Amino acid sequence: MTSFEQKRRGGETMIKGLKAAIGAAVVGLLAGTSLGAAPGLAQDADGDLVAKGAYIARLGDCVACHTALHGKVYAGGLEIKTPIGKIYSTNITPDPTHGIGGYTLKEFDDAVRRGVRKDGSPLYPAMPYPSFARMTDDDIKALYAYFMHGVKPQVQANRPTDISWPLSMRWPLGFWAKMFAPAPKGFTPAPGTDPVVARGEYIVTGPGHCGACHTPRGLTMQEKAYDAAGGADFLAGGAPIDNWIAPSLRNDPVLGIGRWSEEDLFQFLKSGRIDHSAVFGGMADVVAWSTQYFTDDDLRAMAKYLKSLPPVPAAKGDYTYDDTATKMLDSGNTAGKAGADIYLQQCAICHRNDGGGVARMFPPVAGNPIVVSDDPTSVAHIVAAGGILPLTNWAPSTVAMPGYQHILNDQQIADVVNFIRSSWGNKASSNVSASDIEKLRTSGTPITSAQAWLSGSSTTSNWGFSIPQPYGSGWTFAPATHTGVDAAQ
Ligand code: HEC
Ligand code: HEC
Ligand code: HEC
Repeated sequence: MTSFEQKRRGGETMIKGLKAAIGAAVVGLLAGTSLGAAPGLAQDADGDLVAKGAYIARLGDCVACHTALHGKVYAGGLEIKTPIGKIYSTNITPDPTHGIGGYTLKEFDDAVRRGVRKDGSPLYPAMPYPSFARMTDDDIKALYAYFMHGVKPQVQANRPTDISWPLSMRWPLGFWAKMFAPAPKGFTPAPGTDPVVARGEYIVTGPGHCGACHTPRGLTMQEKAYDAAGGADFLAGGAPIDNWIAPSLRNDPVLGIGRWSEEDLFQFLKSGRIDHSAVFGGMADVVAWSTQYFTDDDLRAMAKYLKSLPPVPAAKGDYTYDDTATKMLDSGNTAGKAGADIYLQQCAICHRNDGGGVARMFPPVAGNPIVVSDDPTSVAHIVAAGGILPLTNWAPSTVAMPGYQHILNDQQIADVVNFIRSSWGNKASSNVSASDIEKLRTSGTPITSAQAWLSGSSTTSNWGFSIPQPYGSGWTFAPATHTGVDAAQ
């Protein structure tokens, strides 16, 4: 062997070793201490595949639902309240008795893409399998390798659902799935799609299951559209879940992300904050557990895809700033408008007289889609309950919005919510009442549920009695947001 060959061989072994080490390091990085990986187990599996699976688990945010508050990672037990009772997420660690250690690839695939348990009974669509149905075979294989070889087994029994008979019967779910959940079909982009946009579409509509919260649901609670071909309903904004509303991700300038750039979307998903918005509620969990870990390429692809969606008719015209409220607040003479004095005393210190906030600290309330959404539940909820801007690896500081339910009475909260919904060019209807706030506070009732039901738009609370429905209003995924509690695990 020439010395050249020897060198080459040595180099090859070194590269192989390096590759294995990098594979292991990636597993460690993506899942490692933070997601309870079992490094020893990964050795007899294909390290690259396991690392890939760990990343896909991030794309699918499996950890957020399959981990109870302060619970063991992936051991299940997160309580999900539904209009008909409580269900619990399951143990998806490779423990052979309590987890999915005994699942074959096919059984795993049936659960993830088809919503069918190992015993053949249907899963509640709280598990977003209608979106996961779009995942490719390759990604499912990698995900399986990760759950079998990269996750630490946990001995923790599943909790049975607290739903009483006859509603506890699972067969109507199967009926629902047959009628409304799309048959699993690996994602194939439309011919001629830019590969970057196609990658973004795959993540948003498939593993990322963004539509589970951001797409409105029809009478039978299926998402009205699973991709852009489904029309203007796709990602047009959902019903309240945990009393947070996922707004439109279409390019509407007032209600959606029409005035956001690709860079804004990229930064928001990566760090949870941009100059004109800050993440809260259910989306704070998504950023803290899932999107902050995506590669820059994937985040940019998602941003590019969202900005490439066909335009929707601007439901409320365009947004133009109006300084009438600013001048009133500057003058200190707030007698003319209910809620203005409260804004000046309680809110202006952070959100400023001009409603513009402070970049990357306090989000603006002027021209903010969250503030003007048709359903005021979310904006009223954050004013009543407050919020903590989660820390991410890319923005390692938290900033808090105080909750006002112990400082202001229900009428005062209603007044200030109505004030911000109708000032600085915001043109939302300002008819939130003290009794709306009381119901939101005491029984968690979203503000527009009754009207939404009458008008035929999404709410599950009235429908759950016939067939257990996938999530929407009346479903609660966590007593409080996980963010800041477990996200750093
Ligand atoms: C929005 C919440 C949510 C997300 C996200 C989620 N799951 Fe689930 N999953 C559930 C719930 C709830 C159940 C149990 C449903 C039931 O009991 O019918 C479940 C059930 C399962 C099951 C069936 C387990 C069994 O005991 O048979 C598997 C496997 C599973 N999930 C895997 C995954 C994987 C892999 C991911 C990420 C790609 C994921 N889940 C993401 C909520 C979620
Ligand atoms: C668990 C439900 C849920 C899921 C899943 C979800 N979102 Fe959200 N999203 C929300 C809520 C609630 C808000 C409003 C709070 C906020 O702006 O932070 C929101 C807000 C947003 C915003 C800011 C919009 C604005 O006008 O302020 C963007 C952008 C966004 N989501 C993108 C995504 C993407 C991309 C995905 C998929 C990877 C996704 N979301 C998945 C619930 C969700
Ligand atoms: C101490 C500073 C502070 C004060 C005072 C304050 N806020 Fe906030 N506000 C914040 C922060 C920080 C956030 C982002 C919270 C998060 O992301 O969870 C926020 C978020 C919001 C949002 C959601 C906007 C978005 O895009 O995230 C609204 C609406 C809001 N505040 C309204 C009010 C009102 C009304 C008052 C007065 C009753 C008020 N705030 C008082 C700091 C403050």
